[in-house]
Amino acid sequence: MRRPTIAIRLPARERDALIEELAAAEFGTVVLDSASDLERVVGGGLPVGLAILDVSEDPTAVTATLAGMRERGISVPALIVAGDSVFDDLGEDDTLGPNDEIVLRPIDTDGLRWRAEAMLIRSQVVAHATDNSVLSRGPVEADWAARSPIVAVFNPKGGVGKTTIATNLASALQGRRDRNVLLVDADTVTGHVTMSLGLDTGRTLSDAWLDADEGGPGEEGLLDIAEVHDSGVRVAALVSSPLHMVTLDADRVAEAILAARWGVDVIVVDLHPSYSEVNQAIFGIADRILVPVTPDLPAIRAASQLTEVATQLGVRDHLAMVVNRANSGVSIRQMEDAVGLTAMASIRSGGMLFVRAANEGRTVTDMFPKDAVSHDFEILADCILGIEPAERLADGKAGHRMPSLGGLFGRNQPART
Ligand SMILES: Nc1ncnc2c1ncn2[C@@H]1O[C@H](COP(=O)(O)OP(=O)(O)OP(=O)(O)O)[C@@H](O)[C@H]1O
Ligand SMILES: [Mg+2]
Repeated sequence: MRRPTIAIRLPARERDALIEELAAAEFGTVVLDSASDLERVVGGGLPVGLAILDVSEDPTAVTATLAGMRERGISVPALIVAGDSVFDDLGEDDTLGPNDEIVLRPIDTDGLRWRAEAMLIRSQVVAHATDNSVLSRGPVEADWAARSPIVAVFNPKGGVGKTTIATNLASALQGRRDRNVLLVDADTVTGHVTMSLGLDTGRTLSDAWLDADEGGPGEEGLLDIAEVHDSGVRVAALVSSPLHMVTLDADRVAEAILAARWGVDVIVVDLHPSYSEVNQAIFGIADRILVPVTPDLPAIRAASQLTEVATQLGVRDHLAMVVNRANSGVSIRQMEDAVGLTAMASIRSGGMLFVRAANEGRTVTDMFPKDAVSHDFEILADCILGIEPAERLADGKAGHRMPSLGGLFGRNQPART
């Protein structure tokens, strides 16, 4: 699906890095010579979804252009890049349209990209009712806490944070909530759980099966082959090479995961972004399928397609969204409406912390426990365990209801730019 074009009028030093970032996110970009070019470019038929406009030189020219376009019924949301000096003038009533936003310098390109994603969602999302109360609010099913839950992490879109959420959730459950956790790397193709945790892939489930099938002594399970990470999390990979993935017997994988449930408190499975047979088998045994969704339209579309597939597979009520990079300016409610799933929790952007932790083979929850993003993972871990916030504060024991998340999410959280 083609992504919209973003029209940019910025000084070259800011513009070039931003264009690179936006191109990597598969946006088209068009450079404007002046703000007044915007109407010409839009009139020329380019699908411009957003304009990023500098106002440091001539703020009135920019606001006049936008106001003129609005009058003529041409609505392109604008992200205005300003310095402190012109900010006050822009803040006056009616200077900007309802979909326009202001960002102050200095800007960082990553932050600006996510701000752009958020504005594009807001201009396109059509609100509709969702009915997913079973997913994250109200009482948890009776058998949910009775045995070790299997939590699969999946979205068919790449790069939305599946591995990040699987590893940090596992480490939060192990380190902060004192549960024994098995983290299964079911994505050796793009996933690299083991790599991001600084472990060697070591012996895999497929190696163990080969030996057993050749008459080796008994069949090893996932816990036999698992390596223990410094965080205490046991980590086991299904295969060492993507080529072996296709040869795996899906039912046998599911049985191996079910068998490991007796040896640990929680199993977290990081999945490959595809609807392979192995993945479908894992959906079938997972108590929860966490769906990380970043605030961008491709991730939202992929998640919403997943809800249809999950309905066909009969596992829709096991899906629960985790909004990732949640502080990009789109409210959780808007994400829920867009995807059609209730959010179980949200994880804010951790900036470079994930990269720094991965460089040392550690998780962010383990290495930066006091950072706000680690707190987000604790809340997610508690939702998985069904711990009520009040009980958590009082005595740390598990409760029977999932926390209500309403108060955590605001419409106007500051964006990271
Ligand atoms: N909340 C966050 N804050 C900052 N960076 C993040 C966040 N979530 C994910 N990232 C970064 O985004 C990139 C993609 O994340 P990740 O590898 O977890 O996605 P994935 O869904 O597992 O991708 P794939 O489908 O390729 O396996 C990584 O570099 C990760 O560090
Ligand atoms: Mg991954």
